[in-house]
Amino acid sequence: MLRIDEIRSVAVIGAGVMGSGIAQTFAQAGYAVRLQARHEGTLRAARDRIARSQDAMVRGDLLSEEAARDALARIHPTTILEEATRECHFVSESVPEDLELKRQVFAALDRQVPPGAVLSTDTSGLSISAIASATSRPERVVGFHWMNPPHLMPTVEVIRGAQTADAALDLTCELARRIGRVPIRVEKDVPGFLWNRLQLALIREALHVVEQGIASPEAVDLAVTAGLGLRWAAVGPLRLMDLGGLATFHSVAAYLYQDLSKASEPQHALATKVAAGETGARAGRGFYDYPAGSAEAAIAARDARLFELLKLLRLPVFRDRDSAPDPTGASPGG
Ligand SMILES: NC(=O)c1ccc[n+]([C@@H]2O[C@H](COP(=O)([O-])OP(=O)(O)OC[C@H]3O[C@@H](n4cnc5c(N)ncnc54)[C@H](O)[C@@H]3O)[C@@H](O)[C@H]2O)c1
Repeated sequence: MLRIDEIRSVAVIGAGVMGSGIAQTFAQAGYAVRLQARHEGTLRAARDRIARSQDAMVRGDLLSEEAARDALARIHPTTILEEATRECHFVSESVPEDLELKRQVFAALDRQVPPGAVLSTDTSGLSISAIASATSRPERVVGFHWMNPPHLMPTVEVIRGAQTADAALDLTCELARRIGRVPIRVEKDVPGFLWNRLQLALIREALHVVEQGIASPEAVDLAVTAGLGLRWAAVGPLRLMDLGGLATFHSVAAYLYQDLSKASEPQHALATKVAAGETGARAGRGFYDYPAGSAEAAIAARDARLFELLKLLRLPVFRDRDSAPDPTGASPGG
């Protein structure tokens, strides 16, 4: 297995929402990045998206103009998979969430990527083992699940497939730390991994509460942003119980569990909106209305709030020219 200091060049496959943010993050940490898409237009759109994200970070005082420019110069776009991968040490795949497509991409990667490299997938919940089995090196395939927006969110899940080697998992966790991310190790390749199991448990109950008229979407969102979310940034749910007293939580669980949603498929409140084309901010309507032009503003407002929280919490998300680890052994700009 490669040592962490031997990882200098990263290939990012797929240049959509996640691939562009992942490429940006690696480049801002000083890594040489090859960003691959099938079409020139996708690569141009990715470059624009990265430049816009960087502008916002510069305005938010999270990145210097020089560091932004240097990072952009470290991203080499290409439509040719072989060019992206032939000298890479680590691959981050972000093509759409379709098992057959991912298996095809991994089979091609297996043929082209140098044998020592680690192959990672950003799947949101497909089986890592099923993706890995399309290769001849399942021990070097890991789940590396980023959060959206990837250039801002501090955590990444690092997931063990059935045959993933400890060394590949350890290396990926170390790499995550090098790029200013907090790795969350997930030891079993289960649907939803960890983050989405926790998140969807809350979303299922949030939909239930709205559907039952117990509280409005605004009230549910406020309870999370101003209440649960704030506390959970300080203490996770298991320590929370320790601090509050397990007997109390035992009593609450004993009477409350039976009243919570047990929906085993997407609820009416969600399904009808999707069927009606009310699929969220970009469609103009979801649980809230987004008049023309306001979706981008809503996303920018979310990012601005994240900027403030990240600064406040002093999370090491942003690597600048001065603070970047030096994966090349030379200056990150050089
Ligand atoms: N969007 C999110 O919130 C989010 C969060 C975490 C993980 N993910 C996961 O990340 C992955 C990518 O999601 P996304 O939101 O970036 O999707 P996206 O649709 O924005 O981007 C995917 C890109 O891959 C390209 N593509 C398709 N086939 C390809 C191929 N064979 N080779 C190279 N590129 C190809 C598409 O043209 C597109 O540009 C998915 O597995 C998704 O589940 C998404």
